[in-house]
Amino acid sequence: MADKAQRDIEKYPLGRTGIEITPIGVGCWQFAGGRGLAGYYWPGMSEETTNGVVKTALDGGINWFDTAESYGNGRSERNLSKALKAAGIKNGEAVVATKWQPAMRTAGSIKGTIDKRLDFLDGYSIDLYQVHMPMSFSSVESEMNAMADLVEAGKIRSVGISNFRAGGMKKAEETLKKKGLSLASNQVHYNLLHRNIESNGILETAKELGVTIIAYSPLEQGLLTGKFHKNPELIKSGSRMRRMRLMATPNILEKTRPLIDALDEIAEKHNATAAQVALNWITNAHGNTVVAIPGASKVPQMEQNVGSMAFKLTDDEIKRIDELSKQFK
Ligand SMILES: NC(=O)c1ccc[n+]([C@@H]2O[C@H](COP(=O)([O-])OP(=O)(O)OC[C@H]3O[C@@H](n4cnc5c(N)ncnc54)[C@H](OP(=O)(O)O)[C@@H]3O)[C@@H](O)[C@H]2O)c1
Repeated sequence: MADKAQRDIEKYPLGRTGIEITPIGVGCWQFAGGRGLAGYYWPGMSEETTNGVVKTALDGGINWFDTAESYGNGRSERNLSKALKAAGIKNGEAVVATKWQPAMRTAGSIKGTIDKRLDFLDGYSIDLYQVHMPMSFSSVESEMNAMADLVEAGKIRSVGISNFRAGGMKKAEETLKKKGLSLASNQVHYNLLHRNIESNGILETAKELGVTIIAYSPLEQGLLTGKFHKNPELIKSGSRMRRMRLMATPNILEKTRPLIDALDEIAEKHNATAAQVALNWITNAHGNTVVAIPGASKVPQMEQNVGSMAFKLTDDEIKRIDELSKQFK
């Protein structure tokens, strides 16, 4: 069974929940079956590949997975639970995070839709339930009170948010505190090319409150692997949404090439890859505050992402990467 093979990877606390997670988790947006909004970004994956990605993560010691209601309207949750079952994982042996979809809804739907989430997860408990974005018709307070009720009812273990600003994090924490709980996490866009949380108060607030930052798109959807720099033609094979995102910054490949070259050079010293160095940097540059959830559509990608936890960057290397990527804040 996968957990027998788990290596001795140092785990990070998930906020103050008592739950411990590996610095790298698995982003499951890619498991949405090419459906819904997710389909504009990611084509469907075969069951064999999805199961392979999950098994590779577990075999490499990764102990958690991040999915969402909006990833193919529950398909990602369903495919994750199928893959965990195929890997022989019992409820409680892996940490499962999912998200409530708030658009065009009120906080009342948090309680109204939770049984559907549990149904899609098919026997796996929700260890972390997140508000996907600050976008519902209700206040943060109402959302957090509804979440606290779910904790009390034993439907979820802990509460997180995603895409919230520092003020929203503070409000969420204050509301949960009144119920004897704490805010576990804020899931935000963070990587070497997108470092605004370091200057807009989010990272500082996370450290102050003991809230975990879950970095999404940690490889900037593949750009930080260097594969588009080595073969720019590859950009054309991605979905329109991904192409638009990559092209949003003019001359992106030229502008980011010095950073990618440095990542490659540092990677060689650790017998690693640029992607592994990029993941290692964000999960180590801020103590144990930041964890990352790279997505993978192929098994070898997951193998690489697991390997990002297997080496230590030197202080000089961390500093050099910091200097080269600072301009992208
Ligand atoms: N909370 C939110 O609002 C939010 C928003 C976005 C994402 N997320 C979460 O964050 C997760 C990750 O974000 P993301 O998928 O946007 O971006 P990402 O993790 O930066 O990029 C994932 C993509 O990069 C490529 N890739 C990954 N590892 C690779 C490797 N080792 N070598 C070469 N290519 C590699 C693959 O592209 P190809 O498939 O083209 O090979 C993969 O599909 C998602 O799965 C989702 O769970 C959350």
